[in-house]
Amino acid sequence: MTGATGGVGSIAIAILAQMGYQNLTALVRKQNQVEIARRLGAGATLDANTLKNGKPMQHQTFDYVLDTVGGDVAASLLSMVKVSGAMSMCGNAGGNQLKTSVLPFILRGISLLGIDSITPPVEVQDAIWQKLATDWNVSEQLVVDEISLADTLSVVQKLKEGQHIGRTIVKVQ
Ligand SMILES: NC(=O)c1ccc[n+]([C@@H]2O[C@H](COP(=O)([O-])OP(=O)(O)OC[C@H]3O[C@@H](n4cnc5c(N)ncnc54)[C@H](OP(=O)(O)O)[C@@H]3O)[C@@H](O)[C@H]2O)c1
Repeated sequence: MTGATGGVGSIAIAILAQMGYQNLTALVRKQNQVEIARRLGAGATLDANTLKNGKPMQHQTFDYVLDTVGGDVAASLLSMVKVSGAMSMCGNAGGNQLKTSVLPFILRGISLLGIDSITPPVEVQDAIWQKLATDWNVSEQLVVDEISLADTLSVVQKLKEGQHIGRTIVKVQ
């Protein structure tokens, strides 16, 4: 799971852990994210700074990669997916480009899946919301804080500096 302590990543990893997946690895890039990722349900963490860029094939490490970061991070992890494994992509927090090669696809038979939360039919979205309210309810485990509109700029600044963790709700009143 990349971006594991971000908004999407933290929810995804907590849901997977709640579903019973045990061998979850969280990609983090700061020391203070390790403990958060473990609390969410990751059994292991991998430092994003140790990823190797530009290698078309690397040691087969992951059955499935859930990526929210894109860019070099996604390209590197794509080359670490095991034979017949898959990677899904939903975000571009680390860049829009995906510099890769055909090799992981034609030599390992892996699949690359796009995730778009906007266009699924309303029945599908409804079913997912129902799940999120019941079996996948992980709201107690998430890092969430609430701020006033006046505090927005300072939180946005933290976001830009990569110092922000989890979700912030802006109370408009
Ligand atoms: N496809 C869809 O339907 C859909 C729906 C929702 C969101 N998204 C997209 O999904 C992405 C994640 O959203 P979010 O709300 O979770 O964002 P977020 O809360 O800002 O989290 C982004 C995460 O990515 C990490 N990150 C950013 N750049 C990185 C890099 N170069 N290397 C390693 N880690 C990096 C951040 O780590 P730091 O904390 O260290 O910066 C953070 O953990 C965004 O691009 C968003 O637009 C897509």
